Amino acid sequence: MTKVRLDKYISSTLVVSRKDAVSLIKSGRVSVNGNVKPKGDDKVDDSIDEVLFDGQKLTFAENIYIMLNKPRGLISATDGQGTVLSLFDKAFSDKGLFPCGRLDKDTVGLLIMTTDGALAHRLLSPKHHAEKTYYVECDKEFTQDDVTLMKEGIMMDGKKTQPAVLEILDDPKTARITLTEGKYHEIKRLCYACRQKEVLLLKRLTFGGISLDESLSAGEWRELTDEELTILRQNQG
Ligand code: URA
Repeated sequence: MTKVRLDKYISSTLVVSRKDAVSLIKSGRVSVNGNVKPKGDDKVDDSIDEVLFDGQKLTFAENIYIMLNKPRGLISATDGQGTVLSLFDKAFSDKGLFPCGRLDKDTVGLLIMTTDGALAHRLLSPKHHAEKTYYVECDKEFTQDDVTLMKEGIMMDGKKTQPAVLEILDDPKTARITLTEGKYHEIKRLCYACRQKEVLLLKRLTFGGISLDESLSAGEWRELTDEELTILRQNQG
């Protein structure tokens, strides 16, 4: 492993924001080679240095965090043909890259791909479900009644849906919908509950506080910036 800044190392191994990592280092819970007053910008390499948190040895595994603009026609899975992994070199699947959550085969837009199971688990857990905003185009116009119904919720899988925010756009067949949960086909089922609207286009715009980089064409991806990763970590609940 090459040397990395201690605050980055702590943020990555403990899956906390860089700011929280700095606070943990200042609190004296982190030691490096017995030094209980290390600094955030000290460089560490855990194949040489012994980094302890509350007395436990930490090990660095460099995770991968990617923003993908998912194209239509691929499934959000890792096994088999026609998955989003087909957009990546085999080295990424060898490292265990997987989609953080699911978009339907015909849904496009923001999909986070990562090797960080702990972060994905927290972002997707029903307790801390990260907020997501979608752009939708339907076959019929949205109305104020739909705004009310989505806010009040409908019965889905035996439970009431969490309040969804429907913002009708200039063309009333189009809208932005924000959810704080992720039931199977939730947007399509909510729209259908609103006088049987069929969704013609569904695109995810945001996830856990980060927005789709509109410079990415369908099928293109890039690594998350440090700022985006910090935001995701802060949104993991
Ligand atoms: N809701 C849907 O209906 N489909 C998706 O892909 C995501 C949310």
